[in-house]
Amino acid sequence: RGLVVAIDGPSGSGKSTIGRHLARHYGLAYLDTGAMYRALAWWALERGLSLADPSPAVVSSVDAAVAELALDLPLEEPLDPDDQAFRVAGTDVTSAIRTSGISTVVSRVATNLAVRAALRDRQRAIIARETTPDGWSSGRGIVAEGRDITTVVAPDATVRVLLVAGEEARLARRAAELFGAADDAAIEATRDQVVRRDADDATVSQFHVAADGVVTLDSSTLTLEETLDAAVAIVER
Ligand code: CDP
Repeated sequence: RGLVVAIDGPSGSGKSTIGRHLARHYGLAYLDTGAMYRALAWWALERGLSLADPSPAVVSSVDAAVAELALDLPLEEPLDPDDQAFRVAGTDVTSAIRTSGISTVVSRVATNLAVRAALRDRQRAIIARETTPDGWSSGRGIVAEGRDITTVVAPDATVRVLLVAGEEARLARRAAELFGAADDAAIEATRDQVVRRDADDATVSQFHVAADGVVTLDSSTLTLEETLDAAVAIVER
């Protein structure tokens, strides 16, 4: 049976980098579940739904409409760790889904429980396929990364890791990614996207404390190289 590696963690903890590295290292598929939520948020905006600040009168109809879109999201998830191009209904959204516009509204989509159920089923189907010869990895397996993979999507994964890092380290990394620098202004501009978003996300997913049987890897004081080595050591033990 193919290997299933589940990785969860807060924003800026380095899940994507570690996940892609492990997938390459072991010849596995790679699934970025956060990008699926981002792609859905993009699609909902594209379809004219008002995610930013819906008036109380329309909140429940917007939520129902987003849940409807989630059931039929026209996305083909990229599974190659070296080619993570995302297309929604034919449009390349690879960079669009990383903009602050999407980061600001994505939790609204991700805290919708009907949306979570739809994407969870879709993620489980992909994981199941990757452990068979029909999958992209020809059955070698998959690394899936997000907020609820170790607990909800794949609690029976071969290896489960919670990647954590202190808030300052996470803010600095994300600021450097977004603005090319981690000076005070960049860190302040990043705060909403890291601290507020994690607080919103934590209302529906538990990703700050490891569940039973999940190995915690704290990268706060590790270099990237050291973190990658530690992740490989966890898979191999
Ligand atoms: O990279 P970062 O951790 O900042 O975010 P991401 O992994 O791209 O995830 C974007 C958003 O998707 C998160 O803020 C959550 O709202 C949502 N998400 C989720 O709810 N469950 C997951 N398994 C993955 C992401």
